[in-house]
Amino acid sequence: ATTSKRFPEGFLWGGATAANQLEGGFHEGNKGLNIADVLPGGKERLKILQSPGFDFEIHEDKYIYPNHEAIDFYHRYKEDIALFAEMGFKCYRMSIAWTRIFPNGDELEPNEEGLAFYDRVFDELHKHGIEPVVTISHYEMPVYLVKNYDGWKSREVVTFFERYVKAILSRYKDKVKYWLTFNEINSGLAMPIMGLGFSIHNEEDKYQGTFQAYHHQFIASSLAVKACHEIIPDAKIGCMILYAPTYSYDCNPENVMYALQAGRIFNNFCADVQVRGEYPTFIKRYFKEHKIKLDIQPGDLELIKQYPVDFISFSYYMSRTEKKHKTEAEQGEGNIIGGIKNPFLKASEWGWEIDPIGLRIALNEIYDRYRKPLFIVENGLGAKDRVEADGSINDDYRIEYLREHMVQMREAIEDGVELMGYTPWGCIDLVSASTGEMSKRYGFIYVDKHDDGSGTLERKKKKSFHWYKEVIATNGEKL
Ligand code: BG6
Repeated sequence: ATTSKRFPEGFLWGGATAANQLEGGFHEGNKGLNIADVLPGGKERLKILQSPGFDFEIHEDKYIYPNHEAIDFYHRYKEDIALFAEMGFKCYRMSIAWTRIFPNGDELEPNEEGLAFYDRVFDELHKHGIEPVVTISHYEMPVYLVKNYDGWKSREVVTFFERYVKAILSRYKDKVKYWLTFNEINSGLAMPIMGLGFSIHNEEDKYQGTFQAYHHQFIASSLAVKACHEIIPDAKIGCMILYAPTYSYDCNPENVMYALQAGRIFNNFCADVQVRGEYPTFIKRYFKEHKIKLDIQPGDLELIKQYPVDFISFSYYMSRTEKKHKTEAEQGEGNIIGGIKNPFLKASEWGWEIDPIGLRIALNEIYDRYRKPLFIVENGLGAKDRVEADGSINDDYRIEYLREHMVQMREAIEDGVELMGYTPWGCIDLVSASTGEMSKRYGFIYVDKHDDGSGTLERKKKKSFHWYKEVIATNGEKL
């Protein structure tokens, strides 16, 4: 379909990944263990993420650990970047594994081998004219910090993080101009293990612990913004949130109010602090009702106020539908982040509700609230792909999904939203964050690797590869 509605000049088309989900080489180059390295593959993983008491240990006898080898980008990055270039990527969102740079997290000096690896990756990207967009922390906290400091609950972690941030900003100041602080920072409200680096053991962890950890991340975020502007004056640094527009199940005002509250806490709380530079008023009542008393030290609030982020990046996979009183049957039916089934939407095989208009709603809601440029740094369909006898992979369902979302992006741009770019998730198949599966594929590029760890790691272009190439070449005029 062609239309007169346009994407802006210089729109950043690309794709997104995270170190832990594609690099592998988990022991190479002096890398330390990070959280993803101790998360098993398969159904166990989601259970672990959603229940209390995880031990952050590897149990080789019981489980497989798909992130250890992942898709071996660590050795194959040149081949993969060449494929991204062939699609015409203007940018590539990736993360730096904290544990390649500071294997335990609390060392004083960075690990040269880790720094050198990302130098090679950035050089390769620039060789192809691809701009790196780098997430500083994408579910990759050093396990050492989890075990010895209780993750982000400890204020000392702020110091370690700042050291890490300064090391990478200084090293890559000529190579990286777009930075993101914490991936899906608000996801810790639903599952703290990956983002906040601790497992819930009791009520205290759930409320006091979680929000104290957030306070530390907000300080860390401001320190990262400060360091970024000082070290790389021409760079931009953004926050990254998991945004799921929250609908009321019906027009019953009780449900509307309930949806408003749920949406504000989940979607807006973290971004409000990172973008507006202050705690939102609505959270004060929540703190009171849950007996949360933050340890805020002198200077913290000033720092947060002084260093808000430059832009807002977010992931968009689904909307959420809420109702105040849910029946037991309704409880279990929602998305990964909660809510109940929306009768107007279909869901992916993993139960994530597909809602392209929700993306337009998200873009409008976020832009209305903050008036800063937006960047969609994740979106996509996790699906099982079939390789045909002739080797082709005809992922029309993925093309359809992405096209419908792009149509809504174009609408939002017409609505007046300032949109910097779009990097669909898992542009090359990689390990799923929530389930550790390889069979939950998002890529334009197929990787021959399976849930049981087998596979040749060979890369193949899917039908969507050729389609996306055309989209980029026409700057989204031909979808
Ligand atoms: C986001 C994460 O939650 O969604 C990614 O930032 C993740 O790390 C992506 O991979 C898709 O989720 P999943 O569970 O299908 O991999």
